[in-house]
This record gives sequence, C-alpha cells and structure tokens, in this order.
Amino acid sequence: MKKALVTGGAGFIGSFFVKVWLKEDSRISIVNLDKLTYSGDLSRLSELQGNSRHSFIKGDICDPKTVRKAMQGCDGVVHLAAESHVDRSLLDAKAFFDSNVYGTYVLLEEARRAGVERFVLVSTDEVYGSRSGKGYFKEKDILNPSSPYSVSKAAADLLALSYVGTHHLPVLVTRGANTYGPYQYPEKVIPLFTTNALTGQKLPLYGDGRQIRNWLYVEDHCRGILHALKKGKTGEVYNISSKTELENIDLTKKLLKILDKPENLIHHVTDRLGHDRRYAIDSSKLRSLGWSEKAKFDTAFRDTLLWYCRNEKWWKAIKEKQEGFTKFYKKAYAGR
Ligand code: NAD
Ligand code: DAU
Repeated sequence: MKKALVTGGAGFIGSFFVKVWLKEDSRISIVNLDKLTYSGDLSRLSELQGNSRHSFIKGDICDPKTVRKAMQGCDGVVHLAAESHVDRSLLDAKAFFDSNVYGTYVLLEEARRAGVERFVLVSTDEVYGSRSGKGYFKEKDILNPSSPYSVSKAAADLLALSYVGTHHLPVLVTRGANTYGPYQYPEKVIPLFTTNALTGQKLPLYGDGRQIRNWLYVEDHCRGILHALKKGKTGEVYNISSKTELENIDLTKKLLKILDKPENLIHHVTDRLGHDRRYAIDSSKLRSLGWSEKAKFDTAFRDTLLWYCRNEKWWKAIKEKQEGFTKFYKKAYAGR
C-alpha cells in the first residue's frame, strides 16, 4: 500500500495511529480526514508539520463528495472516525448513528467505487457486551452490545463485514480494548480522574466501582491495527487487548497513589445507565500473527499520568469547555 485514507486521525487513537504508521513505514503517504468535532484536535499532530507524507482534510465522513475527494488515489482505508463516548450516547444518540453508522456506510460505498485493496474498520470490545465470570470473548462469539454507542459500533462493524460477501470489498475489522495514553480527551475515565485529582476535584466513580476493564496502551493498540492490516485476512475480525484487567476502584486507587493524592477524593455517584460490568476479549488470534503488546502497564500508566502533569495547558483549555457537558450530564441523571 502506498497511499491510505485514515479517518478520525485528529482524535486520540487516530493521531497516534497516523504517527506510528508514518514512522514504521517509510513508503506510506496518509490523507487524514477528520471533522474536528469536540474531541478532534490538530495539536495532537503538531509534530507532523512539514511532513510531506501527511495531509489533513477537515471534513465529514457523512458527506460522499468530501469522502470521494479524500479517497482519490488511495489504495487503502483505515476507519477510526466515530463518536466515542458512552455517556454522551446515553444523552443523545443521534450523532452516534449519523457518524458511526451512516458515515461508515458512505465510506464503504466510496471505497467500493475507488476499488481499494484494504479497508480496516476500527471497532471495539464493547460490541460483545458484558462478560461475567472469567471467560473471554473470541471473534466468532455473538455480539450483544448494550449502549447506543456500542450498538452503533456493532452496526458499523457488521455492515463493513457484509461488504466482503456482497461487494467483494477487502474489509477486515479490529476490536480493541479500553485504550489509555497521552492526549486522551478528558471525559474518559483515566484523563478525567487524573485532571480532577490534579485540580483537587472529586473523582466521580460510578456505582460500586467494581466494573472491570482491560487496559491497552495507545501505541500497542495502533501497532495492533497496523499488524492486522498487514498480516490479517479479508473478512476476518481481530481482537486487540492487553493482559491488564482491573476493577475501576483499583485503577482509581493506583492513580491517586501515583499522583500522591488522598483516597477521600473518590466520590461514589449514581451508576451509568446499563453499565457493562466487564469487558474481556481473547486476542490470541492476532498474537498468533506475531503481534504482542510492548507496554508494561505500571510503567505506561505512570508515564501517562506524568504526561498529564506536564501538559496542563492542553487539558485545562479543554476542561473549561467540557465543564458544560459534565454539569449537563450530572443534572440529567440527578435523582435517578
Ligand atoms: P476520539 O473521540 O478521541 O476521536 C474520534 C475522532 O473522530 C475525532 O477526531 C473526531 O473529530 C472524529 N470524527 C467524529 N465524527 C466524525 C465525522 N462524522 N467525520 C469525520 N471525523 C469525525 O475517539 P478515540 O478514542 O480516538 O476512538 C477512535 C476509534 O477507536 C473509534 O472508532 C472508537 O470507537 C474506537 N475505539 C476506541 C477505544 C478507546 O478506548 N478509546 C477502544 C476501542 C476502539
Ligand atoms: O472498551 C473500549 C471502549 O472503551 C471504547 O470503545 C470507547 O470508545 C471508550 O470510551 C471506552 O469506553 P468505556 O465506557 O469503558 O470508557 P470510560 O473511560 O468512559 O469508562 C471506563 C470505566 O470507568 C467504565 O466502567 C465507567 C467508569 N467511569 C467512567 C467515567 C467517565 C466512572 O466510574 N466514572 C466516570 O466519570
């Protein structure tokens, strides 16, 4: 592949993905299409200024003309653009179905027209739903998503796979676990709790805090997507996860310990509606193709927190705007 379209490349994972790919593959050129919604941010890409192998287009994946133009001359697509926050989908799901489902449909149609040689859809472990007990979901397990966000991702995921049989489009899907690292929008739990702790605010832990998530470092997730793109097969799905599973309460205590902040900042609040108890996927299929995570959780987690300590300017500006959403969310669910 010589030239690829990456969607959502100004987002948290997308911006790392673009940087990782350009670094690992000296022959690739990337067209980066992103609408710059509230969570998109060009400062994540500042180190690429002047890089002739990267070009940025501000545009919406729901607009066929924009997508057609952006895809011109591309032989592959890696699709990450999406509305990504579960809590927002509980308040207003429309944008999730517009961008995540209709936007994916537009991309698939344009990729078909362009005759690309590879289309990677970046999906999520949330499409399997909650897994009780100790087992892990494998790629062939049925999907059982439970929030408007995860339903929109599952719809996109299955729609993309349907294009293999119906239109012979060379699609493959990755389903990644909870991802953490620098530059994550401070509405997701790790950057939210870190920045709250640094500013002396409470950490709103949902319900009993015993929900379990698997934590995957952002560069490992991106290398996983790239590995699937290069070694994976058309029509196949690849789970990407690490070996670190933690209850939210334990994650929160670790975070406070590293930041040297007291545990009384933890504030148990009303649970998220339909809160999935545990996400757990088996990534042995991708591992059998030679991928493995490089990050050690304790080191990468500490480095991530230190990054937020050193980059106050970045998140403080966002948090001032974000304040409105947090208040709105609290009000909408107060007294349930
Ligand atoms: P993010 O919210 O940080 O980034 C999403 C990006 O998509 C933003 O830059 C936004 O501007 C862009 N975007 C949204 N709607 C668009 C549209 N209609 N047209 C063009 N651009 C649009 O999200 P993220 O955490 O980086 O997630 C990226 C992808 O990875 C998503 O598809 C998400 O479902 C998936 N994923 C995320 C995680 C995680 O833990 N964050 C885990 C597994 C999978
Ligand atoms: O699993 C992959 C998914 O991970 C991605 O598909 C999503 O895009 C991404 O947002 C993430 O979803 P989660 O809902 O798991 O992430 P979030 O950071 O919102 O929450 C992680 C856990 O922390 C979850 O159990 C809810 C809890 N939480 C979250 C917030 C924001 C709290 O207890 N308090 C909070 O304020």
